[in-house]
Amino acid sequence: MAKADSKSANKAGKTNKSSLEQVLNEQVANLNVLYVKIHNYHWYVKGENFFTLHAKFEELYDEVTEKMDAVAERLLTIKGSPAATMKEYLEIATIHEATGKEDQRAMVQTLVEDFATLSESFQEGIELADKAGDEATADLLTGFIADLEKHMWMLRTYLG
Ligand SMILES: [Fe+2]
Repeated sequence: MAKADSKSANKAGKTNKSSLEQVLNEQVANLNVLYVKIHNYHWYVKGENFFTLHAKFEELYDEVTEKMDAVAERLLTIKGSPAATMKEYLEIATIHEATGKEDQRAMVQTLVEDFATLSESFQEGIELADKAGDEATADLLTGFIADLEKHMWMLRTYLG
């Protein structure tokens, strides 16, 4: 299926059922895009909250890369094949790269939205893993949702 078709099917409410492997692979791609995006924010954030956000973004990209590795290795464990090139990540990811025009509030707001996107994908992964009797994958993703919910709470609180 062409990339555009696959994305529009996703947005239209999954007219084509995704497999657990596809969902996990999309997570690997989205986490890789986020890893680069949060570095962008870490480097280019400006203003009175520079020190706070510069440090927070570093904490977040470290966590994002740990999650990326964990999902990819879980995918290998269940005999899947995680994407492992930047080209594939950009083709598969549903999260957009940084625009380079975000001010500090837009950076935080965008991360809240991206974490919500990931959280929904983790929930979808849990449901597919449950159906497949794959408790380990469901447990892994459940912990990730809790982590992201905490970050979303903090980032929303920062925005006021
Ligand atoms: Fe740094």
